Amino acid sequence: MPFSLVLACDHAGLPLKQALRTALEAEGHDVLDLGTHDAQSVDYPDFAYRVCVEVATNPTQLGVLVCGTGIGMAIAANRHPAIRAAVLHDSTEARLTRAHNNANVACFGARTIGVETALDAIRTFLATPYEGGRHDRRLAKLNPPGAQPPA
Ligand code: RB5
Repeated sequence: MPFSLVLACDHAGLPLKQALRTALEAEGHDVLDLGTHDAQSVDYPDFAYRVCVEVATNPTQLGVLVCGTGIGMAIAANRHPAIRAAVLHDSTEARLTRAHNNANVACFGARTIGVETALDAIRTFLATPYEGGRHDRRLAKLNPPGAQPPA
């Protein structure tokens, strides 16, 4: 089943983002690439923010963010109240963060994961539904009072 995916990266994440984009497009997904597009040094929060705004605006989309470690992107993305971002190292983490956390952004470290492992993780991320149930109660507690609830 094709998904609408929104990708972005910083300079460190560029090679992995490009590899993921090529593979995901070849697999039939609709990919929106919000940059960065060259090796010039940029700031990862700027690109995390772009993806967060897109995913929050259209919750049927899922985000993919790549930096050197995935960590900066995840920290930045999780500051947005509609975003639940997870750094993924394998398909087990991908499955569990979709099933339990209803994660809507997958983050990867271009310096810490290979292309094939990242692709396996994304495929699992896309194939795994949120389980709901007891997890609804926990997700409802993620945002502080007065913050916009998760989409
Ligand atoms: C850039 O050098 C690096 O700090 C960034 O890509 C990321 O790993 C931050 O978390």
